[in-house]
Amino acid sequence: MSWCSRDVPMMSETVNTDQNMPKSILSLSDIRRSFQIGPTNTEILKGVDLEVYEGDLLSIMGPSGSGKTTLMNIIGLLDQPSSGYYVLDGDKVSNLNDNALSSLRNKQIGFVFQAFHLLTRSSAVENVCMPLLYRGVRRKAAVRSAEEMLDKVGMGERLRHRPNQLSGGQKQRVAIARALVGSPSLLLADEPTGALDPNTAKEVMSLLLRLNDEQKLTVMIITHDVNIARQCKRQVFIRDGTLIESSEYMNAAHSETADRNGHATAAIVEG
Ligand SMILES: Nc1ncnc2c1ncn2[C@@H]1O[C@H](COP(=O)(O)OP(=O)(O)OP(=O)(O)O)[C@@H](O)[C@H]1O
Ligand SMILES: [Mg+2]
Repeated sequence: MSWCSRDVPMMSETVNTDQNMPKSILSLSDIRRSFQIGPTNTEILKGVDLEVYEGDLLSIMGPSGSGKTTLMNIIGLLDQPSSGYYVLDGDKVSNLNDNALSSLRNKQIGFVFQAFHLLTRSSAVENVCMPLLYRGVRRKAAVRSAEEMLDKVGMGERLRHRPNQLSGGQKQRVAIARALVGSPSLLLADEPTGALDPNTAKEVMSLLLRLNDEQKLTVMIITHDVNIARQCKRQVFIRDGTLIESSEYMNAAHSETADRNGHATAAIVEG
């Protein structure tokens, strides 16, 4: 991979030397991503910096087309930035080849998508087994882990159901179990409640909050829903290709409006 030639220690590479410091899960520095469409090169991410620590729960908000999924794809090792520096749980991902990236992704990242992305002809257990089978775990052990994880997300009674025999909320629970069965260091959720009715969305969000609280799971949630963002410990916004955190936003030029409105989140979402 050619997007990082600099060989300097990142903040996260030194952070673990002090046991009192929280463990850095990911460190992004000056991440840029451009897309070439015909003759036009458009820069979507224009220098993203972000530090995420173990046990963080972040929401990422921003207008449609602002680059949320683009950023998630880079963090999730599905895409590579045009330039910038990225350290994931101590691994400098910049110089890894495709196989190493796939392996790192399988071990470190769990994905949850709005549209679930389950294998339609496979049962809940078979879906949840997949990441473990991919990494070479034996079938019997994979099934046992999948059943335990499905039980943890409240799906222990529907292990053999196929996706078309499950409700939207149940499908998303299966997808969350699949994302977590391999004990990733980071759960990435792209609008996980976007296809769910408000009550089911609340239940799925409660599950993510519980996993973060009880298991110190690090979670990043892309959402358009202010109520979901408010439940997260940190709120990050994409504005003009860079990230602003709610605390920074409060201190920035718009803080007057934010203070008047009582909270920053609504102000920035309304633009
Ligand atoms: N592979 C690609 N090729 C060209 N342009 C792309 C590609 N992927 C994303 N883009 C462009 O990048 C911009 C950001 O897209 P992205 O999907 O990240 O937005 P988003 O913030 O997730 O939006 P939404 O809230 O609608 O999901 C869009 O203008 C999109 O057209
Ligand atoms: Mg998106």
